[in-house]
Amino acid sequence: MKNVISRPAYKLNGSIIIPSDKSLSHRAIMFASLANGKSIIKNCSNANDPMSTLRLFKMLGVNIEYVDAQTLSVSSGGVLSKPHHFLDCGNSGTTMRLMCGILAGQPFNSVLIGDDSLMSRPMKRVIEPLTMMGANLSAVDNRAPIHIFSSKLHGISYESKIASAQAKSCVLLAGLNADGETIYTEPSLSRNHTELMLKYMNADIECNGNKTFIRCSVLEPKVLNVVGDISSAAFFIVAASIVPGSDIILQNVGLNPTRTGIIDVIQKMGGDIEILDRKTVSGELAGDIRVRYSQLKACSIEGDMIPRLIDELPVIAVLATQAEGRTVIKNAEDLRNKETDRIHAIVTELRKLGANIADTSDGFIVNGKSLLKGAVEVESYNDHRLAMSLYVAGLICQKDIVIKNFEWVNISFPEFESLMQKLL
Ligand code: S3P
Repeated sequence: MKNVISRPAYKLNGSIIIPSDKSLSHRAIMFASLANGKSIIKNCSNANDPMSTLRLFKMLGVNIEYVDAQTLSVSSGGVLSKPHHFLDCGNSGTTMRLMCGILAGQPFNSVLIGDDSLMSRPMKRVIEPLTMMGANLSAVDNRAPIHIFSSKLHGISYESKIASAQAKSCVLLAGLNADGETIYTEPSLSRNHTELMLKYMNADIECNGNKTFIRCSVLEPKVLNVVGDISSAAFFIVAASIVPGSDIILQNVGLNPTRTGIIDVIQKMGGDIEILDRKTVSGELAGDIRVRYSQLKACSIEGDMIPRLIDELPVIAVLATQAEGRTVIKNAEDLRNKETDRIHAIVTELRKLGANIADTSDGFIVNGKSLLKGAVEVESYNDHRLAMSLYVAGLICQKDIVIKNFEWVNISFPEFESLMQKLL
């Protein structure tokens, strides 16, 4: 148990390199393991969640070795072997949901488990479409442990009611190993890393708006270079936007348009944010971002925007406390199904600091601008993004705050505190 103090900041200044994207690192390890041959993954995240994925593929017989601290060599014959133990996904929803799609059509049985948080998260979103594809999965109350029994899969046309990249990726990965074509439609476009990376590895996949078509394919091994995580960059983007006098540069940030909602929100609020250098890395857009402090005004965030910033909403709540007026967040009910109920958690903790914030069934309403007082202890709810959002809130408090169980930041961003200290 590690309690961390976040102190009122003078200003943020300087330039940092944003560490590897978690979503892309999971997918790079998974898809390289499914490909027939040797792939190299450069700048792979070593945070706890992607490490859960890596551990699972080792248990499934894939040869994964470190070439250096952040480069992996993945050698696979394109087939997985039966694991001898339960497959433990730790805290990682991405691992569990995508693995369901990978394992459902394998010629062996397997069992997926996770930590207390993951075992309480809803899995119907993957169990339902996989069952329609001929999979045989058993999970009490649609929660892990998930027992997966070997089956032959066939393609389906599935219309999802939710915009979830994890659910979509699960079905597409099952479709990669199914007879016939699989068509997946979602109500708004969620992050499309699976589609882009599968295409990059020569899968038979096509995208048309919110619809994706995939057919059975063998993946080609590749060199996959993972860009920095915009969801990690978001904590610094918000911090620099609200701490007076700040001026920072964030290097090598992934700029896939399905992830850049945070940039649009800062712009909508009248913030000062600029993309300095654009490039394409292994099929994904990336660039450097400059952020400066500015006076912000409230805005509304809803609809198609939500999947483009779903993981940033806790830190956007902090941002909204410093924007003049009423910020309303709607259509974000899935936030209640994350590592913790993030609507309840962020509203409860920001209120302890003196913010004017109230929850609604599908989001929250913030009235700004508030002076946050500090001198309190806040809870991380064992949730990495809650812990880091509260750290950012601490930077604009009048007095220090203590964040409990801060070690959970290691789930996605072990370098968070040291990089923040570099800018302070
Ligand atoms: C992720 C998708 C999102 C996101 C999660 C990572 C992914 O979840 O919240 O942190 O890598 O596909 P949903 O697909 O459930 O929205």
